[in-house]
Amino acid sequence: MAESMKGLKRTYRCGELSVANVGEDVTVMGWVQKQRNKGGIIFVDLRDRSGILQIIFEEGDCGQENFVKAEKMRSEFVVAVTGRVEKRAGAVNENLATGQIEVRARQARILSEAETPPFPIEEDSRTKEELRLKYRYLDLRRPDLQRNLILRSKIATTIRAFLSREGFLEIETPILNKSTPEGARDYLVPSRVHPGCFYALPQSPQIFKQLLMCSGYDRYFQIARCFRDEDLRADRQPEFTQVDLEMSFVDVDDVIDATERMVAEVCREAIGLKVDLPLPRMTWDEAMNRFGSDKPDTRFGMELRDVSSVAAGCGFGVFTGALEAGGSVRGINVKGQAEMPRKKIDALVEFAKGYGARGLAYLAVMPDGTYKSSFAKFMKEEQLQALVEAMEGEAGDLLLFAADRLKIVWAVLGALRVELARQLGLVDNDAFHFLWVTEFPQFEWSDEEERYVAMHHPFTMPMEEDLDKLKDQPGAVRAKAYDIVLNGVELGGGSVRIFQGDVQEQMFEALGFTKEKAHEQFGFLLDAFRYGVPPHAGLAIGLDRFVMLLVKAESIREVIAFPKVKDASCLMSEAPSAVEPGQLAELCLSLMEEAVQ
Ligand code: AMO
Ligand code: AMP
Repeated sequence: MAESMKGLKRTYRCGELSVANVGEDVTVMGWVQKQRNKGGIIFVDLRDRSGILQIIFEEGDCGQENFVKAEKMRSEFVVAVTGRVEKRAGAVNENLATGQIEVRARQARILSEAETPPFPIEEDSRTKEELRLKYRYLDLRRPDLQRNLILRSKIATTIRAFLSREGFLEIETPILNKSTPEGARDYLVPSRVHPGCFYALPQSPQIFKQLLMCSGYDRYFQIARCFRDEDLRADRQPEFTQVDLEMSFVDVDDVIDATERMVAEVCREAIGLKVDLPLPRMTWDEAMNRFGSDKPDTRFGMELRDVSSVAAGCGFGVFTGALEAGGSVRGINVKGQAEMPRKKIDALVEFAKGYGARGLAYLAVMPDGTYKSSFAKFMKEEQLQALVEAMEGEAGDLLLFAADRLKIVWAVLGALRVELARQLGLVDNDAFHFLWVTEFPQFEWSDEEERYVAMHHPFTMPMEEDLDKLKDQPGAVRAKAYDIVLNGVELGGGSVRIFQGDVQEQMFEALGFTKEKAHEQFGFLLDAFRYGVPPHAGLAIGLDRFVMLLVKAESIREVIAFPKVKDASCLMSEAPSAVEPGQLAELCLSLMEEAVQ
């Protein structure tokens, strides 16, 4: 029978006690990590979110009734213990923060019994993730997850304090919204009152925060839940959290300055990391040309090199063909890997194909200066030499080349660079490399939709000097958009917004919206712009990703209390689930045959 809390009050958390408390009477409560019965003495390791504390039961101190309770205690029982803090009589446990002390129990209560959990509650669990997620409430008892969530809370507190100090107001925006077709796929919520109509869950509070600027709130922030129905990866969830902010009467530098000071304060408070400001900045062009990525990991080199001019006119059809079709030939130099086994190189070729490559040409400069290559036979000796020189190749280096449309060359070599650095252990895992990527292209050509789509979103302001290209050369327009990148992960992004109704209309036009469609979708924003709107800009940081990187977790699931898995389901609650026919009827919905199982 579970006992009650009547007359009992916890005085400390387990991990809060130290030698400073020796001699004190305390009451602690928590979960039994382990019970060891040594005959006349019973040791219980008691755990709560602050740590583990050793309790010692001896019949002479606690009486028979309490001793019998201690005998019954099993792992994960919830118990309360009152006793005195003592220096350990036995050996000090160096692995425990409370390793020099123990509590000599005088009284105990078993508050709740526990069945044997399906996996041990311990640090660095080797239990399969599916099982951990099914029993997430048990998984969340593990010290590593507790540390992650405690740190996440601290980070949110630091952010709130920082932004409040800087004059930002925390304002909530709606979760039930109008669906807009740009961006990722929406999650829809059917309306009962308006049969056949749907709300969309917000992909971000973008339009609302811009309207708040129109309303004069000046500086807004929100730790906002966002929903996107997109394919999940290690750093993506269908619902995730943004630190979302917007500022009036500002330009690019103001947002960058406020954001990087916030990020630096979080790093200092959360993990004691000193971040030097200002953070480095790089234009999108430079990032793509040097790293093949708009989120470059600058913790290691292996930068891309353009060898198109050297490859022009060479005898290798793959190179010249790509160049003649308007593409590019670029390479990376994998230092000291000339003797990489053929099998491994073949695996890299397959990897490259996953990023759209048709192949991957290689040239190994052997230690004796000879070449081993998939294309040497097509080239003259001096052409090969020029190529090696352009790559700054030395004896012992492996040179890898992609020849294709520039977009594919970047994607392939950018991904290869990261993969090789991982395989070869070139990444310093203790380093934190922040940087800003600026001057993104305004538009991106979508092969699927056969039109230009907004690279960031349709509210992003083009760079003033490119405004006249909007109509005729949309591909050449750069945007006042910026991303903050940490260790090769896009941490956040934002932009200066269009605040002139006519530019916004031009933008919708360039994106292929008719005037009617634009007004149907975003009429309220365009209307708001007619009544006096301040220039404004903002950004959003992915909070889950930020915490993930700071705690060096492999996935954002490790820093979210109740995450979803790859197919967007929750293994614990089994959401999403079918609903009662009555619920559907109330919403005037019926299911298509293929959905009914
Ligand atoms: P954006 O779409 O770039 O910008 O999102 C901002 C940041 O949110 C994080 N993020 C995600 N995190 C986890 N799971 C996801 N599925 C996911 N999608 C995005 C990323 C990303 O950098 N309204 C604009 C911001 C602005 O312009 O102010 C926006 O949402 O870390
Ligand atoms: P092939 O002539 O197709 O047998 O290719 C000769 C070599 O060039 C092989 O090593 C291919 O992997 C490589 N290759 C093929 N297409 C490309 C490409 N687009 N870029 C770089 N290398 C390629």
